[in-house]
Amino acid sequence: VTFLPSEEGSGKGAALITAVIDKYLYSMRFSDETLLDITQRFRKELVTGLGRDSNATATLKMLPTFVRSIPDGSEKGDFIALDLGGSNFRILRVKVSHEKKQTVQMESEIYDTPEDIIHGTGTRLFDHVAECLGNFMEKHNIKDKKLPVGFTFSFPCQQTKLDEGFLITWTKRFKASGVEGMDVVQLLNKAIKKRGDYEADIMAVVNDTVGTMMTCGFDDQRCEVGIIIGTGTNACYMEELRHIDLVEGDEGRMCVNTEWGAFGDDGRLEDIRTEFDREIDRGSLNPGCQLFEKMVSGMYMGELVRLILVKMAREGLLFEGRITPELLTKGKIETKHVSAIEKSKEGLIKAREILNKLGLEPSADDCIAVQHVCAIVSFRSANLVAATLAGILMRLKENKGVSRLRTTVGIDGSLYKMHPQYARRLHKTVRRLVPDCDVRFLLSESGSGKGAAMVTAVAYRLQHTRTH
Ligand code: GLC
Repeated sequence: VTFLPSEEGSGKGAALITAVIDKYLYSMRFSDETLLDITQRFRKELVTGLGRDSNATATLKMLPTFVRSIPDGSEKGDFIALDLGGSNFRILRVKVSHEKKQTVQMESEIYDTPEDIIHGTGTRLFDHVAECLGNFMEKHNIKDKKLPVGFTFSFPCQQTKLDEGFLITWTKRFKASGVEGMDVVQLLNKAIKKRGDYEADIMAVVNDTVGTMMTCGFDDQRCEVGIIIGTGTNACYMEELRHIDLVEGDEGRMCVNTEWGAFGDDGRLEDIRTEFDREIDRGSLNPGCQLFEKMVSGMYMGELVRLILVKMAREGLLFEGRITPELLTKGKIETKHVSAIEKSKEGLIKAREILNKLGLEPSADDCIAVQHVCAIVSFRSANLVAATLAGILMRLKENKGVSRLRTTVGIDGSLYKMHPQYARRLHKTVRRLVPDCDVRFLLSESGSGKGAAMVTAVAYRLQHTRTH
């Protein structure tokens, strides 16, 4: 193989440049055959995670969520939703009323979660959450009310009921001490009590995937899958209770949080991981964990691109072999840059701007090459999500015993929302991989807060019909 020497003004056609990059990154480009093979591996893991004896050692945790149905339209009330663990820490007030039609009114604020807090002690983290909640209630004049709270906590939690969640392990950017193994509802309650200036009634802990499924389920009764493609990636779906060995009962369904970010943690994706994926993992907060997430999600995508560019520059394939200290600095290329570079009109101009900021002076060909590197990395992400989502769709179809599945997938997450091509590529690949499913993709416009409020509403109603 001869690679393209990036001579200034070489004038080589874009097609030639992209062909060379395609070859260079061939291990990141998957045929449908490979994708369907990944789908099959994923389906096996789903079953392993659901089994009584295999769950403990499974890579997919398949966590029961105690959410048994999507919203039925009868939910109502005044709620607070906390949303911690995504790219923003948000607090929302969600009012659901019923005049003729169910309507939802929402107000929200975004709060900082500085690094010293998410990497400090758990006590400090929950004190911070309680303080922000206090400020929110003050600002919205509801400090004297004891409103039911739904807590969207976007990490793997073990639950035996709705209002309890033992954190199994931190993922993504979070690593506060003394929280793993603890019930986050208790930790938050303790922090609120300690302040003593307001009361709150935490009714439910929900994963962001579950919140997203519920938010979308509010608008589309067919919604039975929730996906996040943002800082991290994950999915939940409605599984038949008879297949969930860890929960008593055989009737009906329950939402299961797959925690698919951990797919491959047992080595089952080694054949498709590259040297760049291994380097990302080595430099991460949780080496050996969340290996699928590290190939897919927004927290790592910019860094993947950076590592590829460094290697190509070292080999003289980019920037005339020149490397700058900025290009060598971890985190200097972010996923939002990848999104900008892939914009169809201004992409190449953005590429130049971004590379200039890294102290580089790219040629026109360099910009084309960098844009194509970004396309391959983000396309790989969309393809991998398509493969695992296909596995969930096939499972739903099999569970229902139908010859065609008609279903809706609720999706949220910064990467899915901000990247100019991502959604289209994902939808197209899924439809190709599961031709016997009619899938509707529904963007959760309002995040997971509305869904968390729906879960809270149901919990609240159940509690109050039981005790009164
Ligand atoms: C990580 C978390 C998971 C969450 C996802 C998206 O994978 O472990 O719980 O749903 O990120 O935020």
